Amino acid sequence: MTTTIAFDIYGTLIDTQGVLAKLQDIVGEEAINFSNAWRDKQLEYSFRRGLMQQYEDFSVCTAQALDYTFARFNRELAPGQKRELLEAYTVLPAFADARPALVQLRDSAYKLVAFSNGTANAVEKLLAGAGLRQFFDAVVSVDGIKTFKPAPAVYAHLLSQCDASPESAWLVSSNPFDVIGALAAGLQTAWVKRSAAAVFDPWGFEPTGVVDGLGGLQALIGKTEKPKH
Ligand code: LAC
Repeated sequence: MTTTIAFDIYGTLIDTQGVLAKLQDIVGEEAINFSNAWRDKQLEYSFRRGLMQQYEDFSVCTAQALDYTFARFNRELAPGQKRELLEAYTVLPAFADARPALVQLRDSAYKLVAFSNGTANAVEKLLAGAGLRQFFDAVVSVDGIKTFKPAPAVYAHLLSQCDASPESAWLVSSNPFDVIGALAAGLQTAWVKRSAAAVFDPWGFEPTGVVDGLGGLQALIGKTEKPKH
């Protein structure tokens, strides 16, 4: 069976800190803390909506988390600024190591899939804007089953959409909660530990491999898999 490599999008291939310049114009030196708080709240809202079975698409989590974060930082958000920030979130840049790693993996004839909490439309737009769309055989979104990572159903959806078995599929993510979700569903995983300070949740799950950037994937996956040509 062809090996499928599913890539998380936000934070793994696409840099959510791409909104920083715009945030700096609005909140000045608080921009980094603001951006981290916004991202944490966005993910919290996705987890809570999943648990409560109150699905709204991921852009709603992003927009509501933005409102929350402005309130928490005691800042006024003009409607024009909100529109600009949310628009910036739909055209975020790729991490510099994304393209060379995808070129390499593509040449090895793996099946490459984008796999995200974002809707298929949002992910298509992001990947096209970042010049990465052509590397992927498919875009799989949780929107197909109206819940969020790391619900087990989401990983089952990924496998069924790719016609893959858990053993023949890898999840590549910088988000430990996503890696653990995939491990619990039986997939192989690569944790992209982009910063030396990143901590993996101590739940007793170990990623199949850890890389410090996407450039390490070819060696990690090649060691355990034989790509089909
Ligand atoms: C995604 C979020 C989890 O792209 O980063 O699915």
